[in-house]
Amino acid sequence: MKLSGLAGRTAIVTGATGGIGAAIVARLLAEGCTVAGVDLDAEAMRRACPENAGLIVIAADVSTEGGLPILCRADGGKVRRGRYVCQQCRYS
Ligand SMILES: NC(=O)c1ccc[n+]([C@@H]2O[C@H](COP(=O)([O-])OP(=O)(O)OC[C@H]3O[C@@H](n4cnc5c(N)ncnc54)[C@H](O)[C@@H]3O)[C@@H](O)[C@H]2O)c1
Repeated sequence: MKLSGLAGRTAIVTGATGGIGAAIVARLLAEGCTVAGVDLDAEAMRRACPENAGLIVIAADVSTEGGLPILCRADGGKVRRGRYVCQQCRYS
Protein backbone atom coordinates (compact mmCIF):
# COMPACT_ATOMS: atom_id res chain seq x y z
CA MET A 1 0.00 0.00 0.00
CA LYS A 2 1.33 3.43 -0.89
CA LEU A 3 1.43 5.93 1.94
CA SER A 4 2.63 9.46 1.43
CA GLY A 5 2.24 12.91 2.89
CA LEU A 6 2.18 11.61 6.44
CA ALA A 7 5.54 12.95 7.57
CA GLY A 8 5.12 15.28 10.51
CA ARG A 9 1.57 14.14 11.22
CA THR A 10 0.48 12.47 14.43
CA ALA A 11 -1.36 9.16 14.31
CA ILE A 12 -2.94 7.26 17.20
CA VAL A 13 -2.78 3.47 16.98
CA THR A 14 -4.70 1.48 19.56
CA GLY A 15 -3.77 -2.16 20.08
CA ALA A 16 -0.25 -1.08 19.12
CA THR A 17 1.42 -4.16 20.67
CA GLY A 18 -0.59 -6.63 18.63
CA GLY A 19 0.51 -8.17 15.35
CA ILE A 20 -1.40 -5.78 13.11
CA GLY A 21 -0.99 -2.77 15.42
CA ALA A 22 2.79 -3.10 15.70
CA ALA A 23 3.10 -3.46 11.92
CA ILE A 24 1.04 -0.29 11.43
CA VAL A 25 3.15 1.55 14.02
CA ALA A 26 6.36 0.50 12.25
CA ARG A 27 5.04 1.60 8.86
CA LEU A 28 3.82 4.99 10.10
CA LEU A 29 7.12 5.66 11.88
CA ALA A 30 8.97 4.80 8.67
CA GLU A 31 6.81 7.37 6.89
CA GLY A 32 7.94 10.02 9.38
CA CYS A 33 4.79 10.15 11.48
CA THR A 34 4.74 10.73 15.18
CA VAL A 35 2.84 7.71 16.50
CA ALA A 36 0.96 7.55 19.77
CA GLY A 37 0.82 3.81 20.41
CA VAL A 38 -1.84 2.76 22.89
CA ASP A 39 -2.06 -0.65 24.53
CA LEU A 40 -2.55 -2.20 27.93
CA ASP A 41 1.12 -2.79 28.77
CA ALA A 42 3.79 -0.18 28.00
CA GLU A 43 6.77 -2.57 28.32
CA ALA A 44 5.20 -5.09 25.96
CA MET A 45 4.67 -2.30 23.43
CA ARG A 46 8.30 -1.20 23.69
CA ARG A 47 9.33 -4.79 22.93
CA ALA A 48 6.94 -5.11 19.99
CA CYS A 49 7.51 -1.75 18.29
CA PRO A 50 10.67 -0.27 16.79
CA GLU A 51 12.71 1.99 19.04
CA ASN A 52 12.06 5.39 17.52
CA ALA A 53 11.98 8.95 18.84
CA GLY A 54 8.65 9.39 17.06
CA LEU A 55 6.91 6.73 19.14
CA ILE A 56 4.90 7.87 22.17
CA VAL A 57 4.09 4.85 24.31
CA ILE A 58 0.78 5.12 26.16
CA ALA A 59 -0.51 2.45 28.55
CA ALA A 60 -4.29 2.77 28.63
CA ASP A 61 -7.38 0.61 28.41
CA VAL A 62 -9.37 2.31 25.66
CA SER A 63 -12.53 0.38 26.59
CA THR A 64 -12.84 2.23 29.90
CA GLU A 65 -13.91 5.76 30.76
CA GLY A 66 -10.48 6.29 32.32
CA GLY A 67 -8.64 5.34 29.13
CA LEU A 68 -9.60 8.36 27.05
CA PRO A 69 -8.37 11.02 29.50
CA ILE A 70 -5.03 9.21 29.74
CA LEU A 71 -4.79 9.38 25.97
CA CYS A 72 -5.80 13.06 25.84
CA ARG A 73 -3.23 14.11 28.45
CA ALA A 74 -0.39 12.13 26.90
CA ASP A 75 2.66 14.08 25.81
CA GLY A 76 1.35 17.28 27.33
CA GLY A 77 -1.89 17.12 25.35
CA LYS A 78 -0.19 16.90 21.93
CA VAL A 79 -1.61 13.44 21.27
CA ARG A 80 -5.12 14.84 21.48
CA ARG A 81 -4.48 16.64 18.21
CA GLY A 82 -3.66 13.42 16.35
CA ARG A 83 -5.08 13.46 12.83
CA TYR A 84 -5.34 9.73 12.18
CA VAL A 85 -6.62 6.91 14.35
CA CYS A 86 -6.04 3.20 13.68
CA GLN A 87 -8.24 1.12 15.94
CA GLN A 88 -6.74 -2.36 16.28
CA CYS A 89 -8.23 -3.80 19.44
CA ARG A 90 -11.44 -5.67 19.57
CA TYR A 91 -14.38 -4.69 21.73
CA SER A 92 -16.40 -7.48 23.27
N1 LIG B 1 -4.84 -11.11 12.65
C1 LIG B 1 -5.79 -11.32 11.73
O1 LIG B 1 -5.64 -12.09 10.77
C2 LIG B 1 -7.08 -10.53 11.79
C3 LIG B 1 -8.01 -10.66 10.77
C4 LIG B 1 -9.19 -9.91 10.80
C5 LIG B 1 -9.43 -9.06 11.88
N2 LIG B 1 -8.52 -8.97 12.88
C6 LIG B 1 -8.82 -8.05 13.97
O2 LIG B 1 -7.85 -6.98 13.95
C7 LIG B 1 -7.57 -6.60 15.29
C8 LIG B 1 -6.07 -6.71 15.57
O3 LIG B 1 -5.62 -8.02 15.25
P1 LIG B 1 -4.25 -8.57 15.84
O4 LIG B 1 -4.00 -9.89 15.18
O5 LIG B 1 -3.20 -7.51 15.74
O6 LIG B 1 -4.66 -8.83 17.36
P2 LIG B 1 -3.75 -8.97 18.65
O7 LIG B 1 -4.54 -9.73 19.66
O8 LIG B 1 -2.37 -9.42 18.28
O9 LIG B 1 -3.60 -7.46 19.14
C9 LIG B 1 -4.64 -6.75 19.78
C10 LIG B 1 -3.96 -5.76 20.75
O10 LIG B 1 -4.99 -4.95 21.33
C11 LIG B 1 -4.67 -4.77 22.70
N3 LIG B 1 -5.90 -4.45 23.39
C12 LIG B 1 -6.97 -5.26 23.59
N4 LIG B 1 -7.91 -4.62 24.29
C13 LIG B 1 -7.42 -3.38 24.57
C14 LIG B 1 -7.94 -2.27 25.27
N5 LIG B 1 -9.15 -2.31 25.84
N6 LIG B 1 -7.19 -1.12 25.34
C15 LIG B 1 -5.97 -1.07 24.75
N7 LIG B 1 -5.42 -2.11 24.07
C16 LIG B 1 -6.13 -3.25 23.99
C17 LIG B 1 -4.07 -6.11 23.14
O11 LIG B 1 -3.31 -5.94 24.33
C18 LIG B 1 -3.25 -6.48 21.92
O12 LIG B 1 -1.91 -6.02 22.02
C19 LIG B 1 -8.39 -7.52 16.21
O13 LIG B 1 -9.59 -6.87 16.54
C20 LIG B 1 -8.68 -8.72 15.32
O14 LIG B 1 -9.87 -9.36 15.72
C21 LIG B 1 -7.36 -9.67 12.85
